[in-house]
Amino acid sequence: QETSTAHGGHAQHGTYYHNEQLALLPNEGTQPLTFPPLLAPVSEQGNEVEYALTAQQGKMTFVDGVETATYGYNGEFLGPVLRLKDGQQVTIHLTNELDEATTFHWHGLEVAGDATDGGPHAVIEPGETQTITFTVDQQAATLWYHPHPMGKTAAQVYKGLAGLLYIDDAKSEALQLPHDYGINDFPLVLQDRTFVDGQIDYEAVANTMSTLGDTIMINGVVNPAMTAANEKVRLRILNGSNAMTYYLRFTDDLPFSLIATDGGFVNEAATMTTLTLGAGERAEIVVDLHDFVGQRVELLNGDTPLLPIDVTATRQAMDYDTTFNEIVLDDTLRTMEVTKTVTMEGMTENFLLNGKTFDHERIDFRQKQGDTEIWEIENIINEEGAMAHPFHIHGTQFLVVSVDGEEPDAAWQGYKDTITVQPNQKVRIAVRFPEKGIYMFHCHILEHEDVGMMGQIEVY
Ligand code: C2O
Ligand code: CU
Ligand code: CU
Repeated sequence: QETSTAHGGHAQHGTYYHNEQLALLPNEGTQPLTFPPLLAPVSEQGNEVEYALTAQQGKMTFVDGVETATYGYNGEFLGPVLRLKDGQQVTIHLTNELDEATTFHWHGLEVAGDATDGGPHAVIEPGETQTITFTVDQQAATLWYHPHPMGKTAAQVYKGLAGLLYIDDAKSEALQLPHDYGINDFPLVLQDRTFVDGQIDYEAVANTMSTLGDTIMINGVVNPAMTAANEKVRLRILNGSNAMTYYLRFTDDLPFSLIATDGGFVNEAATMTTLTLGAGERAEIVVDLHDFVGQRVELLNGDTPLLPIDVTATRQAMDYDTTFNEIVLDDTLRTMEVTKTVTMEGMTENFLLNGKTFDHERIDFRQKQGDTEIWEIENIINEEGAMAHPFHIHGTQFLVVSVDGEEPDAAWQGYKDTITVQPNQKVRIAVRFPEKGIYMFHCHILEHEDVGMMGQIEVY
């Protein structure tokens, strides 16, 4: 294994702790990237659809000849893609076949803040099944699901519990965009692991600051490689790592278009050459491989190879839509007063939101259902130092109003549910909860969340 440090073009944060140091397998010995299966419904009748999802133990061979004990949903490792439509009435049977308690959380889904949301209160004991029902009421987006049991989220995700949740709507179906799953529309779940004697042993490698692996895997494949036709391809990227921040770019700084953020399409495709994704964040990008027949284009994390894409076949060039949405971020939001402030701090052991750790009996905030409030999120530097914290809120897709008083750059101009806030940064967001209930807000570095960098809000 070769060690390299990927600092992207982010030297401006160099005075702070960096969590993107990793060793990576070089490109030799790559394995073909695979894509998670699409989950078939148990039943489907008109607008009503029913699914079953089981958290279970599994076994995987990540590296030749070694069997690794894992967790997975309906399979050995990770989970299938659950593909829902706006307006659908959904029933999901959730079964826990692990020998420890778990929950099923739908990250980015705007559902009631009760057992449906699957936060730490929605525990499912071993051997139990619970059923949730909800109506999908949000725009097309790439969301995800993962466990959320108090103090155990990091270990369970690390062992393999995570999956993608796609929402489709009338607009996403009508738009001209690459949409053939596994052909020109590819999910990429980015994660990092350190294998200990070939095993995924969270306790052996856990680090409260950030559990970082020396091996990257995509969709559960170590050292992956893929082929694609010389067309525009769509990558739906999830940072499913416990703690790692990725600075995504392509070789030779090949430009790509950002088409969607956490919560759905941006207004217009934004051309960029690097994209920062903190833990829990997603982005959909389109990259044009037209000029690369017979060549290799590589997705990188800073300077470190993540995924070589060999451009082989030839397909008909297609023109795709570049205008998608009508998000209005105007003065009404910019001039609204801040009604909630959250400070994030900590770098080594004490990870705090507003100076406190999580208390399941304490409600930190209240907000009225349907109201929009401006929250100000600040990452403060204290005696421990500072590091970037990805701030996430359940049950809502919010808009970034400003970053240190300035307009957010393109990567933050769509709906978001998680934003990676750098040390000393102050970000204002416009938050509206469409449903009621108790929701978590927390740092999505799972180690920080597990030690209590989390609060709760009651939406009434
Ligand atoms: Cu990805 Cu509390 O969630
Ligand atoms: Cu969430
Ligand atoms: Cu954090």
